[in-house]
Formats: sequence, C-alpha cells, structure tokens
Amino acid sequence: MAPPWSSVRIAASGLAMLASWTSTANAVDMTAADYFVHSLPGAPAGPLVKMHAGHVEVTPAGSGNGNLFFWHFENQHIADRQRTVIWLNGGPGCSSEDGALMEIGPYRLKDENNLEYNNGSWHEFANLLFVDNPVGTGFSYVDTNKYVSELDEMANQFTTFLEKWFKLFPQYEHDDIYIAGESFAGQHIPYIAKAILERNKQPATKHTWNLKGLLIGNGWISPPEQYDAYLQFAYEKGLVKKGSTEGNKIEAQKAVCHQKIAASAKDAVDVSDCEEILQEILRLTAETLPKDSRGKNQCVNMYDVRLTDTYPSCGMNWPPDLTSVTPYLRKSEVTAALHINSAKSTGWQECNGAVGAAFKAQNSVPSVRLLPDILKEVDVLLFSGAEDLICNHLGTEAFISNMQWNGGKGFEVSPGNWAPRQDWTFEGESAGFWQQARNLTYVLFYNSSHMVPFDYPRRTRDMLDRFLGVDISGIGGVPGQSLLDGEKLPDTTVGGATNNTASDQAQKDKALEDAKWAAYQKSGELVLAIVAIGAAVWGFCMWRSRRRTQGYQGLAAAAERVRGNTGLESFRNKRSGRDVEAGDFDESELDDLNVATPTEMNKERYSIGDDSDEEHPSEKRKEGQSSSH
Ligand SMILES: *[C@@H]1O[C@H](CO)[C@@H](O)[C@H](O)[C@H]1NC(C)=O
Ligand SMILES: *[C@@H]1O[C@H](CO)[C@@H](O)[C@H](O)[C@H]1NC(C)=O
Ligand SMILES: *[C@@H]1O[C@H](CO)[C@@H](O)[C@H](O)[C@H]1NC(C)=O
Ligand SMILES: *[C@@H]1O[C@H](CO)[C@@H](O)[C@H](O)[C@H]1NC(C)=O
Repeated sequence: MAPPWSSVRIAASGLAMLASWTSTANAVDMTAADYFVHSLPGAPAGPLVKMHAGHVEVTPAGSGNGNLFFWHFENQHIADRQRTVIWLNGGPGCSSEDGALMEIGPYRLKDENNLEYNNGSWHEFANLLFVDNPVGTGFSYVDTNKYVSELDEMANQFTTFLEKWFKLFPQYEHDDIYIAGESFAGQHIPYIAKAILERNKQPATKHTWNLKGLLIGNGWISPPEQYDAYLQFAYEKGLVKKGSTEGNKIEAQKAVCHQKIAASAKDAVDVSDCEEILQEILRLTAETLPKDSRGKNQCVNMYDVRLTDTYPSCGMNWPPDLTSVTPYLRKSEVTAALHINSAKSTGWQECNGAVGAAFKAQNSVPSVRLLPDILKEVDVLLFSGAEDLICNHLGTEAFISNMQWNGGKGFEVSPGNWAPRQDWTFEGESAGFWQQARNLTYVLFYNSSHMVPFDYPRRTRDMLDRFLGVDISGIGGVPGQSLLDGEKLPDTTVGGATNNTASDQAQKDKALEDAKWAAYQKSGELVLAIVAIGAAVWGFCMWRSRRRTQGYQGLAAAAERVRGNTGLESFRNKRSGRDVEAGDFDESELDDLNVATPTEMNKERYSIGDDSDEEHPSEKRKEGQSSSH
C-alpha cells in the first residue's frame, strides 16, 4: 500500500496541473462534437438518427449551477426549408423525454432494452430539440435551493439556454422555429415565445430567431375556464350526474373556486380551492366504479376517461410505456451515450415533485394573457385529445371563445359568423375537426387522451406538417390520406418520403463523418482532461457530501410541505417526499421511489403518471372502454 504522503503529492501535482489547465480552459470548452451521440443502446438495426445530447449551463456555480439537458434529433429530410421544433412536456417538473420516447421522437421503447422506430415521428421534416425544463426536471439539474418559481424566470433561463445552444450549433439558428408541447407547457411556451419576440427586437441582438409558430396540446393556459370545465366535462362523460347529491356538492366547491378567483387581483396560474373540484370528481368515481379484479378501488384515469386506474393513482400509472422508459433512461450505457454529466447525481425520473412544488408562479399571470400579442406575430395551434379530463377540450374551447385577438373575439369571424369546424378524415377514419381564425388554429382529436401523439403519432405528424406548411408534392414520396370537409389537402406524408433523399442523404452522410472526426480529434484532449478530473475528484467528493446533507434537510422540508397542503400542492407532489437533486446515487432507493404506489390522494398535476399497471397494460388501452357504467 502506498504511504499516505504519495497520494497527497499526486493530488498536489494534480492541482498544479489543474491550475495551469484552467488558465487555458477555453481549449476544453464544450463544442458540438462533445455532444455527438455515437450510438444509442438498443437502437434498431439500420441507420442511426443523427443526434446530439448533453447539458448546457444556464446559471453558473454560485448562483445555482443550473444546467438544462437537451436531446436533439436531426431531420430525416429537408423539405423546402429548415425547420426546428422545440418540444416541452408539462408538470411543472416533468421531463421532455416523455415527448422524445413516448410521443413525437424517432424512437419508442419496445421493452426496457430495445427501441423501435416511431412511424409518426415528427423528425421527418423538422429537427427536434427536446429540453428538460425548468432546471431540476428530468436530466436537468440545479442546486436544490435554486429551483425556479416564476414563469418569466423560467423563460429567461430558457433564452440563455438557446443563446448558448445556438453558439454550439449555429447551423440551426436560422431555421424556422416552432415551440411545441403539452399540458403545463401551455404556460411555459407562451412565456418563452414572448421572451424570444422581445429579444428579437432588442438592438443588440445580432441574430434574430425566426419564431414561426406554437403548438400546444391539452395545454394548461387559462385557469378560470379550465377549472369550470371539470364539472361540465364530468357531466358530459357521465362521471357525475347533474342534480345528484354528489353533483351539488361539487357545484358548491365550484362556487368557492369562483369566489377565490374573483377575490384575487389577477387570475392565478393555480388555485388550490379550484383544484379540489377535480379531486372530488375523482373521489366520486372511486365510489361509483366497481373494485378491480384484485379487489382494489378504482377511479377514472384523469388523462383518459375511457380508462380506469387504481385509486388514488387515477392515471398516474399511465401510460404503460413508462415501465420501459424509466429503467432504460437509468442504464449507465444510456446515460453515457447521452453525455449525462456526473454532476447530475440521481437517476432519471419522469416528474420531479420538488421542482413542481417550488414552481408556485405566484407573481405570474396565466399565459392566456400573453396569447393575443403573440398572435399578432406568430401562428398558434392548440390541439386537444377529446378524452382527457385534466386539461379537457371544453376548457380550451371556452377560453378560446372568451379570448380577444387580432380584432375579433373567439372564432367569430364576422358578426354572427363563426369559423366552421371542418371534419378531418385521416386514412378513411374520422379523426377530429379543424377550426381556424386570425392566426389561431384549433384541432380536436377524437378518441384521444391527454397525450395525443402517444395515441396517434401519425395523425399528429400530419397536423404538424400542415401547420409547418410542408408540401411534399415538390419532394416526392407517398402522400398520407387526409381530408378536411372531404377536400383533399396539400400532400403531406406519413413516412413515405423517398425522393429527393439521395441528395440530402449524401449531404448528411458527410456531416455525420465530419462530426465523428471532430469528436475523435477532440478526444486527444481527453488525456489532459483526465488529469484535471483526477484532481477535481477531491473537490467533487466534498461537494457531493455537502449536497447529501442538504438532501436530508430538503427531504424533511418537502415532507413538511406535503403534510401542510391540500389541493394543488398535493397534486404536484407525488414524489415530493424526496429531494431527487440532492439525493445520493443509490439506484435501489430510486427504484423504490418510482415503483411504489402512492398512498395518499396526491396526483401529479398536468402531466402523465409514472408507473404502469403491469398486470393489465393492454386492457387499459382498449378503445371506447367505458369507466362510467
Ligand atoms: C411502422 O410501419 C411499418 C411499415 O408500415 C410496420 O411494419 C411497423 O409495424 C410500423 N411500426 C409501428 C411501431 O407502428
Ligand atoms: C398573423 O400573423 C402574421 C405574421 O405571421 C401577421 O403579419 C398578421 O398580421 C397576423 N394576422 C392578423 C389577422 O393579425
Ligand atoms: C371516435 O370518435 C368518434 C367521434 O366521437 C366516434 O364516432 C367513433 O366511434 C370513435 N371511434 C372509436 C374507435 O372509438
Ligand atoms: C421520384 O422522382 C422521380 C423523378 O422525378 C419520379 O419518376 C418518381 O416517381 C418519384 N418517386 C416517388 C416515390 O415519388
């Protein structure tokens, strides 16, 4: 065994190296090559989608050490122009890897080890940028006392992220940019759009960003109408009977909610007395539904009322793919492939309750207030899955009707005339309808849950391509069959674009080669970096143990919050007994954390749940299954 002094000396010389190395730190600043994803475990045979992934710092060490994680997929084909779609999931605090691996990304999980292609992937004609937002969410991280609490703060950090990201990847900075997402991202997206539009107008801005459109699915956008819509939707779906004792009790709760909203100077993003309406509806369904085959109480799935779930999960065990996604994203080969920074010390989890609990948005107005100004400059598409309860389509339709924008109110296009709802037929099936006026488009998807691209990836891509204005008639390929009011629409495709691809394939192969070479060249610098890392280990351990201590404090504090709260906080805090950012890296503990069935009535807000019901996953996906009778 080496005498103790030798390790001291090694550390000392390491520190000396570190000192000289930091003075030339620019040499090892991250470049695009460092983010290149060389391989993805479990990917199907065949060409790998060109991907980059990793962390970008948005707040320096000292003011939070906030780092956002991104996963970027390059488009498969270039249509008439380059487009980038940024995708954000909800929560607050739920990871956009949901979108990447269960909704619009190129790959889906077949099981926890194997990926397969998603036939409806949105990357056919658009580059996709998934970001775990805000800090602390998914693979993103931050010091636990620096979670974001307001929407403008979130948007500022996001534009900081974009500034740095476009420095790394300038080839995308002039793309047409679209921001898309779901659920609570209905708050995030308009705030980010506003921040981008303001940034573009500043004289100091060298490169403006071509923000072209927003797409929001089952968004949480205007709380007053959306809270009201809970009971209306429950009546319509037969979950609650109008005039019944239970119905009247919930009506009373609705009156309390109205008073709370009327009493507040500005309408709030969340109101706990209003959240209680949804909780009561779910509780009621637990009383009326029969027990499941294991004798457990069931309630309706708040993300798809055709489905049921055990009480009090009520949808948190959904969608079934999560049982594969979570273990997959915790594999060390996967985190290595995605360049997960070692400072991100905990395994991936879908939703971080601590992030959600901190995101109070108490000084923020709901994003609906931002939409009229945004619509002056940017097209907005709102889409809804018709079977979702938590952000249901009746609420969305109600706030659109009440909203004034571009010289009119709602979908009234001239006095007494409303924009028609055009029937949408996709591949011979009735898919929903489209409605449009003054830069706002609304699309309803029939037979769909809260996560429309999970249910209907190909239909959502048809929607995307239309919104983006991709017309494949100039490109070649097999058009999808899509009709509005029986009229043939511009040709988009559902996976058949084969022409024009020889030329863009050659271009892409070359880019891929270049990226690989750049990565290998950079690895020469690895030797130096390893020495520096060796020296830094000592500092790192110190930091880790300090964080661990904080973690326990965080745990106690979080537990306190859960006990003290009703309503929204408990919705958001499914996993808030844990402070994941601060926790140490104990995989088995993390597994517990994710597999355990919550024992209280504390549902995750505006997001999908985590654990799948292993026993009957397929049964739960049956279409048209009614939970109310
Ligand atoms: C995708 O399409 C191919 C060919 O049409 C089909 O064989 C495959 O099963 C589809 N995959 C999925 C996940 O739907
Ligand atoms: C719709 O947006 C465009 C910019 O994309 C803008 O020029 C136009 O004035 C907007 N339409 C209306 C009716 O305001
Ligand atoms: C889908 O929704 C439409 C309209 O609500 C309905 O007519 C149709 O039966 C539904 N299809 C399925 C398979 O549930
Ligand atoms: C591709 O383009 C060629 C020549 O323009 C055309 O003959 C062929 O039919 C196209 N193929 C597809 C699949 O559209």
